[in-house]
Amino acid sequence: KRKKIVILGSINMDIILQLTRLPKPGETMKVQKFETAGGGKGANQAVAAARSNAEVHFIGRVGDDQYGKQMCALLKENSINVEHIKIDPSHATGQAYILLQQSGENSILVNSGANASIQSEDIEAAQELIESADVIVAQFEVPLPRIIEAFKIARQAAVQTILNPAPALKVPDELLALTDLVTPNEVEAEMLTDIHVVNKQDAHQAAEKLRMQGVKHVLLTLGSEGSYYLTQTGQEEAVAAYKVKAVDTTGAGDTFIGCLAAKLQNNFENMAQAVRYATKASSLTVQKLGAIPSIPTEKEILAK
Ligand code: RIB
Ligand code: NA
Repeated sequence: KRKKIVILGSINMDIILQLTRLPKPGETMKVQKFETAGGGKGANQAVAAARSNAEVHFIGRVGDDQYGKQMCALLKENSINVEHIKIDPSHATGQAYILLQQSGENSILVNSGANASIQSEDIEAAQELIESADVIVAQFEVPLPRIIEAFKIARQAAVQTILNPAPALKVPDELLALTDLVTPNEVEAEMLTDIHVVNKQDAHQAAEKLRMQGVKHVLLTLGSEGSYYLTQTGQEEAVAAYKVKAVDTTGAGDTFIGCLAAKLQNNFENMAQAVRYATKASSLTVQKLGAIPSIPTEKEILAK
């Protein structure tokens, strides 16, 4: 049986500006290359899970505009169920302006648009869908109160909850207590725990702190340093990343989360295996330009 995943998340059109470097204040600079690509943390994670053969349903909003139409079509092409994506005539589809420097580093400006206008009624309308899922995944590009509402429904129905706390925000304990697995990066981990994570010991400490706050399992993603997890039963491991040349890291973290969600068993017992699979997947994403265009299929991941 395919794993049934609900993603509550953001949908953006990514506007990629390739630059030699960032402009200084007051400077006018030419863009080397311009491109658009599908993105948004929610959409990226949904595509990653779907390309790893999960059954994916999306809860979100787009505007009544060209980007919204393009993004819904793109999600559908990837076999994602879009019945719970609402078209909001009073907001624009989310956009992310990605300033990609020659060095491979990126800076992102997000205009949330319709993503920020997801209402309680959207979550209520998806109640049965959430209850019928194996897992629900959410990130912070949609309103936090909506995530709490959705996770309450999930917890009541014993549906697994995965929280990707990105971009970094302070998180109420109420939400952490409703979370089965939280997946912060270093910056987000520090925001959540006040622990500055540089080595495995810090990672362990931060994970323990999050477990005390009510999360069952913790997975820290450490970029080129790989990842570290601590499960409810005390299993822990640091998993190394692959050394690859990064062209564009946009969406690599999302690929990791989407693939992980697709492969984790409902009891989280195969964490080691799922993390290895997700690590391979994200190493492929960084080698291509754009978020959604660079997300690999299961076949490509297994061939690596
Ligand atoms: O995580 C990457 C995503 O963050 C990009 O696709 C962009 O849309 C921003 O939301
Ligand atoms: Na990429």
